[in-house]
Amino acid sequence: MQPDYRVNDPDALLSPSLLIFRDIVVHNLHEMIRLARGAERLRPHVKTHKMPRLVALCEQLGIHKHKCATIAEAEMTAAAGGQDVLLAYPLVGPNIRRFVRLATAYPETTFRVLVDEPLPARALSAALAETELSVPVLIDLEVGMGRTGTAPDDAALALCELVDGLPHLEFEGISAYDGQIHDSDLAQRRRAAETGIAQTLAFRERLLAKGLNVHRLVLGGTPTFPIHAELDVPGVECSPGTCTIQDVGYANRHPDLPFIPGAALLTRVISRPRPGRLCLDLGHKAVAADPPAGSRLTIPELPEAHIGGQSEEHLVVDTPRASEFPPGTALLAFPSHICPTCALHRRVYVMEHGDLVDEWEVAARDRVLTV
Ligand SMILES: Cc1ncc(COP(=O)(O)O)c(C=O)c1O
Repeated sequence: MQPDYRVNDPDALLSPSLLIFRDIVVHNLHEMIRLARGAERLRPHVKTHKMPRLVALCEQLGIHKHKCATIAEAEMTAAAGGQDVLLAYPLVGPNIRRFVRLATAYPETTFRVLVDEPLPARALSAALAETELSVPVLIDLEVGMGRTGTAPDDAALALCELVDGLPHLEFEGISAYDGQIHDSDLAQRRRAAETGIAQTLAFRERLLAKGLNVHRLVLGGTPTFPIHAELDVPGVECSPGTCTIQDVGYANRHPDLPFIPGAALLTRVISRPRPGRLCLDLGHKAVAADPPAGSRLTIPELPEAHIGGQSEEHLVVDTPRASEFPPGTALLAFPSHICPTCALHRRVYVMEHGDLVDEWEVAARDRVLTV
């Protein structure tokens, strides 16, 4: 599709603000279903958008499985009608009790969790003792990122057997997230992913040999999505997040992927402190600050510009064409990293064919909703 980033009436929009181009997001969701070879093989991560309306859109398109990182994201997803929610983040401390409250408060939704150590597994089982709930559990396998999870070794096998025997828990499979893989070249990305896939499938065989269930293999993010999507193993679910909206960072780095950036920031020139310089109302409170300064965003109308210093509410941009952009000029800037950018906005403007058609809440930017 040819993206349509028109904004017919910028005066109707506050700045800085985040615009979501609805038809592009719908396009990306359809491409995700196509690549996964069926909506039932998809479990998109909601951390990218954190928006109930986007969960509802997924559900409408037949995507009933969701992944999330926080209890607030899990609650937002369930409240928006998400049928199946995997909380893919270690449950420790008071979050164990919160999880039990969440699962009790939303009986229509199936919540799944990950474990990578016996202690939290035992604590969750004990916390569920007073309930009728039985919670499906996946083991979080560490396949190279070195962030969470456990190596696919004998201790991991013993953990799966422990979970299988604990009251109120049902062992049901493996989660393996290879977020360390970002190679631009698809063949290189494939080679990098194959190591983790081989480890995951070998561990699956060991589980099956022990008589354990492996109904579910939840794999990867956006960069390795096409590789996992090719697997013909029962229970595979691809769990990309970023490509739902897609950002310029991933679009530039992975040109083989069929996703189109579907969000932009609306910003305005607020000052021209010297010839050749614009100051925009686009500080690091409006765009993710995790890429280094200077590479956090792209401004298509100013391709030659040097993106300079940024503070909380200001961004300085040097361009020989500064005189063409008087104060108040509205510009679109495309964020390099969309997930933390969404977290900076309470609401987003939803655009279609250049018109503002809706506003969506970014509900799960908060840490706590009701539980
Ligand atoms: C555990 C987990 N799964 C899936 C994803 C989605 O990955 P991506 O944003 O590359 O699509 C993430 C992203 O951070 C993640 O942490």
